[in-house]
Amino acid sequence: SLNGFDHYMLKEIYEQPESIRNAMRGRLDDQDATAVFGGLNLTPQQLRSVERIVLTGCGTSWHSALVGEYLIEELARIPVSVEYASELRYRNPPMENNTLVFGITQSGETADTLAALRETKRKGHRTLAICNVVASSIAQAADGGVYLHAGPEIGVASTKAYTSQCCVLAMLALYFGRTRHMSYEGGKRLIEELRRLPAAVQQALTTDEQVRDVAKKYCNATNFLYLGRQYNFPTALEGALKLKEISYIHAEGYPAAEMKHGPIALVDKDTPSLFIVPRGTTHDKVMANMEEVKARGGPIIAVASHDDPHIEAIADDVIRVPSVQEFLQPIVTVVPLQLLSYHIALLRGCDVDKPRNLAKSVTVE
Ligand code: F6R
Repeated sequence: SLNGFDHYMLKEIYEQPESIRNAMRGRLDDQDATAVFGGLNLTPQQLRSVERIVLTGCGTSWHSALVGEYLIEELARIPVSVEYASELRYRNPPMENNTLVFGITQSGETADTLAALRETKRKGHRTLAICNVVASSIAQAADGGVYLHAGPEIGVASTKAYTSQCCVLAMLALYFGRTRHMSYEGGKRLIEELRRLPAAVQQALTTDEQVRDVAKKYCNATNFLYLGRQYNFPTALEGALKLKEISYIHAEGYPAAEMKHGPIALVDKDTPSLFIVPRGTTHDKVMANMEEVKARGGPIIAVASHDDPHIEAIADDVIRVPSVQEFLQPIVTVVPLQLLSYHIALLRGCDVDKPRNLAKSVTVE
């Protein structure tokens, strides 16, 4: 049921503190400062011998794979490649013997993801699923995997499944990291950061009113740019996809620094740029990109850290989110972007739970 919410999408956005908690329940091991998973079905030897990880999926699940790439490479130092399932299934790339493949999927029924996993499994690679729907086709086809435990996602636009996927990938990075170079102390710190996430997401939800004002201001735009770097480059892609699919506004996501290689030509007074610019390694560089957009007369919306002192000087609208470690930021910064697409879609009279031309699970290729 809708539980008092107007739409499933909004209800599911608001469920995220709880769905993230459920993704972590029973999986954080303080004793050994690592994560534990019941269903990976990997022996310690198999785990140790993994030389490459392939993450594959479609749409929003492919975006969480991009977050996973950054997480696993940084925290576990295992090379990762991210593949669109629809491309992987026909591309036939060479894969080393000790390659571990993860199919990421909310529904567990996406035809391309299923086919990509069957193909890699047939070639003898260990093939696991990160999946929400229990006993779905992909969950059954895989050698093992991790369930999201996010509860049913009814809105066609994926919201809580995405943040849970990112959370599971962070725990996998911790798990792989702790079998390699990551220290006990490092593992401990990561666990503490993960435990702070539900409260941070709760806090990010309090931007709702303010996001609605931003939505009113820009709901008639026909083009939007979403820009972010590093861990928030996938956030830019995801924000743009949410806006496209439920508001039917053309939006593009880019790594912020790529802007000057072409997309900046789109900037004018009617094209808002949304920058995801929390504190972190590339903060100042992204601020410089914002200056470039401002100098060309483009309106700027910034999703920034709660205590950023300089942001108002450049951005027209600032949405402030709590600070978390850089590698967990995408789980927090995506929340106002989900809300923005929701409010813009409502203002434009779109059916947010059932956008035109889309289905909840794509069971044809
Ligand atoms: C976007 C969206 C789609 C799905 C994609 C994969 O909001 O929902 O892009 O993410 O169709 O679906 P799953 O995760 O069920 O494999």
